[in-house]
Amino acid sequence: MKFKLTSVDPKSAARTGILQTGHGEIQTPIFMPVGTAGSVKAVHQRELELDVQAQIILGNTYHLYLRPGTELLERAGGLHRFNGWSKPILTDSGGYQVYSLGANRKITEEGVIFKSHIDGSKHTFSPESVMDIQRTIGADIVMAFDECTPYPCEYAYAKDSMNMTHRWLKRCVDRMAQTEPRYGYEQTLFPIVQGSVYNDLRKMSAEFIAAQDQPGNAIGGLSVGEPHEDMYAMTSLVCGILPQDKPRYLMGVGTPENILECIALGIDMFDCVMPTRNARNGMLFTTQGIINIRNERWKDDLSPIDATLGGYVSTFHSKAYLRHLIINKEILGAQIASIHNLTFYLWLVSEARKQIEAGTFTTWKNNMVKIVSQRL
Ligand code: GUN
Repeated sequence: MKFKLTSVDPKSAARTGILQTGHGEIQTPIFMPVGTAGSVKAVHQRELELDVQAQIILGNTYHLYLRPGTELLERAGGLHRFNGWSKPILTDSGGYQVYSLGANRKITEEGVIFKSHIDGSKHTFSPESVMDIQRTIGADIVMAFDECTPYPCEYAYAKDSMNMTHRWLKRCVDRMAQTEPRYGYEQTLFPIVQGSVYNDLRKMSAEFIAAQDQPGNAIGGLSVGEPHEDMYAMTSLVCGILPQDKPRYLMGVGTPENILECIALGIDMFDCVMPTRNARNGMLFTTQGIINIRNERWKDDLSPIDATLGGYVSTFHSKAYLRHLIINKEILGAQIASIHNLTFYLWLVSEARKQIEAGTFTTWKNNMVKIVSQRL
């Protein structure tokens, strides 16, 4: 996998680049829609490609392993063939899902023993098995198996956990080196920096991760309830240590405001369930600010969902119609709102790229942060 930096902002750490994968190029900074179980909820692949203009989507090892299972995915020829998405796919390792399971899991040096949220059956993930599963899923970008620490987290726990994540990473690197790409295209490992909100741990982890010399790097353990200032401070510190010439992926972030601020700190890749999950509850991100479409205020508003965004559903349908659909729990409401929100997120990063290239990013970003985070 090749990454080429194409421009650097003179006033911040923002940059643009092109990431080459076996399923085509990705322009960075980029937002990656989340398709946990092999589908981005309520959005068809054709809409993702043509309306949303997504360049890469996420899948999740934990969910895909439980259902439909690796045997079927292998028979299909990998997830791309199974779901019909022919652009790049990144799979999260399950480190975060296992963290979310709470009492239904036990973490040991060997790996994690967990109970399925579907039927309570017992399973084990190890760094090795998680690499093998992601190879079989056919991810272009394979995430290391890590422990995402909760917030707040005691220093001693965060330190021990980080060290275990580092030992697990060695095992992930070895396993990837010992195994072949499954379907004839490259599969690349991204290690994950941990260390909770502690400066010294984050520094140690970033140095350790950088030393593995993998083609890309990720930052985990953030956006788990810590204040935004801590998230920005950790991101800035880690970006200062991770190599300039490799893509940096901030996992699970975030709001439009978080994304703009973290682009300024040097992040190239983002993912978050927010645009799709919140869409289903009627929360819309627009070029004018945030709308709760369930609000009485939009009842008779026949103006487009977002006239300036462009994009088919956002200009064609009115706020009043979308409100009517969401209030009536019509499936189409979830579809339109999800397509709209994702189109907005992809528009935001594409505008950011243009502004970085033009050398006007910082001024634009400071103004845009105010607009996109205001509630209408
Ligand atoms: N998604 C959001 N945060 C994390 C993290 O720390 N680790 C993993 N594997 N996935 C995440």
